[in-house]
Amino acid sequence: MSIRLLKLAALYLVVAITLGLGMGMTEKFTLAPVHAHLGVLGWVTLALAGLIYTHYPQAAGTRLAQVHFWLHNLGLPVFMGGLALFLLGNTWAGPLLGIGSTVVWLSLVLFAVNLWRSLR
Ligand code: HEM
Ligand code: HEM
Repeated sequence: MSIRLLKLAALYLVVAITLGLGMGMTEKFTLAPVHAHLGVLGWVTLALAGLIYTHYPQAAGTRLAQVHFWLHNLGLPVFMGGLALFLLGNTWAGPLLGIGSTVVWLSLVLFAVNLWRSLR
């Protein structure tokens, strides 16, 4: 679980910094919120979850941890894709953005509940 989270976080880091560099080079900042959340939700939050689960294996072994893992990793690409499309003027992507962000929100609420329940 921790290794999968850290490897996925590293992937998000590469995508986030590539987009950041691209924005800087083209001086087009429309996708800045996508870059920001690829960084904070993809890299920082996933890596932090991976490190927390390494440090507290009792939190990594629960069913809630599995649900958190899948909802975060299925929701985030939909959230980021929806946000990018929406910011580029495709208003039809609004529902994708809404669903993706709500799924990620739910995954992180469950992550928090998991920590409260399993850490002693
Ligand atoms: C080589 C690495 C990176 C480059 C070239 C880069 C580039 C950029 C650029 C060009 C902007 C837009 C600035 C603006 O609109 O004024 C930006 C914003 C931002 N970046 Fe990065 N970035 C990098 C890495 C990261 C990482 C690793 C994170 C998160 C962990 C991050 C988080 C953010 C955030 C949160 C913003 C929005 C800041 C705001 O709205 O004031 N960046 N970045
Ligand atoms: C489901 C999770 C999240 C949702 C739905 C969300 C939503 C938003 C929204 C609507 C904005 C304003 C964007 C704008 O002004 O264009 C924003 C900005 C920001 N959020 Fe989040 N956020 C989430 C998670 C996080 C997390 C976990 C962090 C930090 C660890 C974070 C850091 C930031 C930062 C730094 C900004 C300002 C950067 C910018 O405006 O581009 N967000 N977020």
